[in-house]
Amino acid sequence: MKIDDKKLRELEKKVLAYRFREKNLEDRKIYDEVFDHETLMTIYGLTTKGYFDTLDFPIATGKEGNVFRATTIDGDYVAVKIYRMSNSTFNNIQKYITGDMRFRSVGKNKRRTIHLWAQKEFRNLERMHTNGIIVPKPITCVKNIIVMEFIGIDETPAPHLRSVEIESPDELYNTLYDNYKKIYKKAGLVHADFSEYNILMTESGPTIIDVGQAVLTNHPMAREFLERDIKNLARYFKRFDIQVEVEDLMKDILEEEK
Ligand SMILES: Nc1ncnc2c1ncn2[C@@H]1O[C@H](COP(=O)(O)OP(=O)(O)O)[C@@H](O)[C@H]1O
Ligand SMILES: [Mg+2]
Repeated sequence: MKIDDKKLRELEKKVLAYRFREKNLEDRKIYDEVFDHETLMTIYGLTTKGYFDTLDFPIATGKEGNVFRATTIDGDYVAVKIYRMSNSTFNNIQKYITGDMRFRSVGKNKRRTIHLWAQKEFRNLERMHTNGIIVPKPITCVKNIIVMEFIGIDETPAPHLRSVEIESPDELYNTLYDNYKKIYKKAGLVHADFSEYNILMTESGPTIIDVGQAVLTNHPMAREFLERDIKNLARYFKRFDIQVEVEDLMKDILEEEK
C-alpha cells in the first residue's frame, strides 16, 4: 500500500486528540491500546478505500474494543467497531472459539485469533442480515475492524432497549421473539448475548447488535446459550406482565420443521 504521509499524520493527530479528550486515566490507556500501529494502518486503508473519511467520536468503550461513529465523504454515517489487539481480548474470546468448527485451525496465535474473531462477527452479521433479521447492515471487515450501518436517530447513536420507555410491549415482544427465532432457524446461529443491552431502539423499531459471540446451532454450548438468551427475554418482559414460558419457547425454537 502506498502511504500518504500527510494523511497518516493527520490521522495520528486525530487519534491523539481523542486520547486527550479522555480525562480518565484508565480510558486513556484503553485508547493507546486500541490505536496500535497496525490498527492505525488498517483505519488508514479503510479511509483510502472510501469506507469512511473521519472517525467522529467513540460511541462505546467495551472490554474488547471500541465502537465509533464515522462519516463518509458523502456525509453519511457508519459505525466502526475496533477490537483491541490485547491479551485480554484474546482471553475473553477463547471460550467461544473452542468448539466452533470455523476456528479449528487458529491455535494460540493472538493476532490471528483476534482478526478471525472480527471476521466471525462480520460473517454472523452477514448471515443474519441476508436472512432478514433486524441487525445493522454489514459493510466490510478488515483485520480487527468491522464497518457496519450506523444505527442512530439522526446524529445520535440509538439508545439501548434498557434505557427507553416502551409504548407497545406486546408488539416489541413479538418482533424480538420473531427475529430471535429466525436467528436460530434461518441463520443457524444462537446469539449468546441477547439482552436489553444489545438491542438498540429507533423510531422504526429495535435492532439487534453485538453478534460476535454468536455460535452455530451445533456448537457444544449452543443449547446453554440459547436458554440463557430466552431467560433474558423472559426476565425483561416480566415487567410488562408478559408471561414468557422459557420451556415453551425453547421447544418452539428447537422443534424440527415439519
Ligand atoms: N451499528 C451500530 N450503530 C450504533 N451504535 C452501535 C452500533 N454497534 C454498536 N453500537 C454501540 O456500541 C456499543 C458496543 O457495541 P457492541 O457490539 O455491543 O460491543 P460490546 O458490548 O461487545 O462492547 C453498543 O452497546 C451500542 O451502544
Ligand atoms: Mg454489547
